[in-house]
Amino acid sequence: MIKVSLISLGCAKNLVDSEIMVGHLHQAGMAVIPDAEKADVVIVNTCSFIDSSKEESIGHILEVHQNRGMTKRRKEQKLIVAGCMSQRFSKDLSSSLHDEVDAFIGLDQITKVAPIIEGLYAKERGKDEAPANFIEGKSTYIPDFDTPRFRLTPKHFAYMKIAEGCNHPCTFCIIPQIRGRHRSRTVASVVAEARQLVKEGVKELNLISQDTTFFGMDTWEQRPNPRTPVDSSRGTALTTLLRELNAIEGDFWIRLLYTHPAHWSDELIKTIAECPKVARYIDIPLQHISDNMLERMQRETSGDYIRDLLKRIRAGIPGIAIRTTFIVGFPGETEADIAELCAFIKTTKFERLGVFRYSQEEGTRGAKMPDQILPKVKEARWHTLMGLQRQIAAEVSKSYVGQTLKVLVEEPGVARGEADAPDIDGRVYVPRELPVGEFVEVKITGYQDYDLLALPKGEKPAEFKVAKQAQ
Ligand code: F3S
Repeated sequence: MIKVSLISLGCAKNLVDSEIMVGHLHQAGMAVIPDAEKADVVIVNTCSFIDSSKEESIGHILEVHQNRGMTKRRKEQKLIVAGCMSQRFSKDLSSSLHDEVDAFIGLDQITKVAPIIEGLYAKERGKDEAPANFIEGKSTYIPDFDTPRFRLTPKHFAYMKIAEGCNHPCTFCIIPQIRGRHRSRTVASVVAEARQLVKEGVKELNLISQDTTFFGMDTWEQRPNPRTPVDSSRGTALTTLLRELNAIEGDFWIRLLYTHPAHWSDELIKTIAECPKVARYIDIPLQHISDNMLERMQRETSGDYIRDLLKRIRAGIPGIAIRTTFIVGFPGETEADIAELCAFIKTTKFERLGVFRYSQEEGTRGAKMPDQILPKVKEARWHTLMGLQRQIAAEVSKSYVGQTLKVLVEEPGVARGEADAPDIDGRVYVPRELPVGEFVEVKITGYQDYDLLALPKGEKPAEFKVAKQAQ
């Protein structure tokens, strides 16, 4: 039996691709094992978002290659590079990683990974022969509810890729060139998958794509004219999806990740407010607030639009926690732009906030723009924003003290609240005996920066020691 080990890098979208590969490997009768050194085949599912992600991907490839030279058996080990870096750079990497890599596969080959592996064993590669390259054209693939998949997340939460690709023109981003045009699954397909996941005991469905708010709208674009009725069999819009997911029986959260400010509507705000299973949490990467920057970044929004939208979201969905990300150091960013951004962060008080230093990505329009910012200036701006947010985060955490929250226990002693998405947000430290994978109600008794400390509802503070030990 062929043994395969898979290293999954990058974001949750790539993780779902890894899960699909593992599902197909199992279906083909191959064993998937955690230990790369014992495997016949190692797949590195790469990320190519910014320089550091590429470096990390290359680092893993070189490490796998180095290790396989160490015993005779491992010399026969095959190394396959998959994912975003492969999709984007396979031609360049084919010569620079000639000895290290046996095959490159792209985003549309994740369901064909088993026959590709069999093919590598069936035909010995010549000494001077280039690594096999299976990538054909632009990515168009989208999985369905019945696509074989083996989940790599803990049993109690799952990522659901509701769409793939991106039609936005953001000048800093390479992802649309890697992942192709936006294509949505149907509402029925997503609902069928959600039903199955809830039946399997999943307590949190994390909806992902490059732009979840654009879900279903690609089918509107394909209409010959706007008066043509929407083809509802191909998917309508996010509000329909959320209402149908909310109607599924069971106790679970629906979490909306990767929304784009340009596609929010009052109907979406109303829908979230009316659907109790949709977490009071939204992830809305804004990237900047200054009109100068938003225009250069081609964000299809303005400062006034964003301020008004956030006002409507806070008013329409009481108790909502807003997560956003900003980019500092984009070409042409002035001190005045940064001052405006700082003032905006201070007044908006985002519950969750991440900051990226702009990375000049080959193939993007931003990379060719004049007025690139020096790394040390980017660094200083990043520290300014992070320092500001640290204070706000402490205020936000403090405001939870004394409240009762429903949390999902992640591992012994650690839980997450509705305002915390997996992997990216804070934690709630709870007593170790609380059941992993279950919802519990806790009382918040303290905080440390971004994290909260809690006791089960009704417990006395003497038990608090247990929670503290859990850190
Ligand atoms: Fe994700 Fe990295 Fe690709 S962030 S979409 S794995 S470039």
